[in-house]
Amino acid sequence: MSWIHEKAYAELARVREAKEKQVYPFFREFESGGIHTRVAGRDIINFSSNDYLGLTNHPKVKAAAIAAVEKYACGLSSSRVQATTTEHVDLERRLAKWFGFPDCLTFTTGYQAMVGTIMALADKDTTLILDAYAHACILDGTFLAAGVPKNGPEVRFFNHNSPKSLERILQTRERKNALVLVEGIYSLDGDMGKIAEFVEICDRYDAVLVVDDAHGSGTLGKNGTGIVEHLGLQGKVPIVVSTFSKVFGGIGGILLADEAVIDLVKHTARSFLFSASLPVPVVAAASTILTMLEDDGPALVSELHQKAEYMRTKLTAAGFDLGMSNTHIMPIMCREERKTLFMHVALFECGVLMVPITYPGVKVGEERLRVNVTRGHSQEDMDTAIELVKTYGEAFFVLGGDEIGPYEG
Ligand SMILES: Cc1ncc(COP(=O)(O)O)c(C=O)c1O
Repeated sequence: MSWIHEKAYAELARVREAKEKQVYPFFREFESGGIHTRVAGRDIINFSSNDYLGLTNHPKVKAAAIAAVEKYACGLSSSRVQATTTEHVDLERRLAKWFGFPDCLTFTTGYQAMVGTIMALADKDTTLILDAYAHACILDGTFLAAGVPKNGPEVRFFNHNSPKSLERILQTRERKNALVLVEGIYSLDGDMGKIAEFVEICDRYDAVLVVDDAHGSGTLGKNGTGIVEHLGLQGKVPIVVSTFSKVFGGIGGILLADEAVIDLVKHTARSFLFSASLPVPVVAAASTILTMLEDDGPALVSELHQKAEYMRTKLTAAGFDLGMSNTHIMPIMCREERKTLFMHVALFECGVLMVPITYPGVKVGEERLRVNVTRGHSQEDMDTAIELVKTYGEAFFVLGGDEIGPYEG
């Protein structure tokens, strides 16, 4: 056995154990897409989807993608430098206008948008300051930048969503330029970033604020343009990064900033320059959803909020702990790995998918089921899920908080 096999065996011990106990929850094979999917021939209501406005499978979105396949096929076989289409440029212009920013650049994924932006902006004169709960794309962009020989930035973390802690870090930073990286909505906890406070602090310390609004775009603000609109901060957040992989029906990254930042990133971000261009069918799908948001944003967003409020009220009344959530992302905190996995399996057997999030995704004691309410869920979907989580929440002592017996019992 090579050292790689030894490493794989050692590192996958927990995966093997979960498979043996038949509670392994990942890589389930969907036989159709969407909030209502099929797995192993059975209908499943998916509460872990990020299709928050339920538009991904809209017939108009599919039709636009099909038309783009006819025109451009599925790929452009090169990076944007030599494979930019009028569709890419048109979408970037419209996104900038809708989000209320001077300029926009699209990437092939949101992950790449963040990694590329951090790497393009940070250097040895920069301190990168991250929320302790930063998404992997922020962490990876930071660590890549820090690893650049002789040009690496200083890296500091502040306590999750704490303006006080951010201020302390800004006061004690060692480099002259500060880039502060936070999120509009934290995807595992469903809590909104305190962006108004961060804007004020960044202004005082001459720091540049970057907000990853992957989960707020299309879900927050009257029109759905995100956390900046929701908090009335238009023109006050210099850089927003977002994605097409939630509300915009496909895959792709969005960078919103002024022309100088966009031009710098466009000409220096390695994840942009050295990776293939976003396929035009995906551009067409996002573009169609953008039209729906332009025409009907407030109604779409308000429907999502009504459904989220219903689910929140029912789950809270039943006694569930929804952690720090104050959005449509409302984790059911189980606070023990086995309870979380057992809940997941029982719900799945009854046709409801709520993906378990366990260590190392979250700290030990903070295990939870991922519950995302979307506009695509029907009243019946929500009522079915609520009844089932109540039943199994009691059966597995998530409600009541008692210890669950050992596996071997
Ligand atoms: C907060 C956050 N940022 C960025 C991303 C990456 O987006 P994408 O799926 O487009 O790579 C995600 C998606 O998981 C996310 O949750």
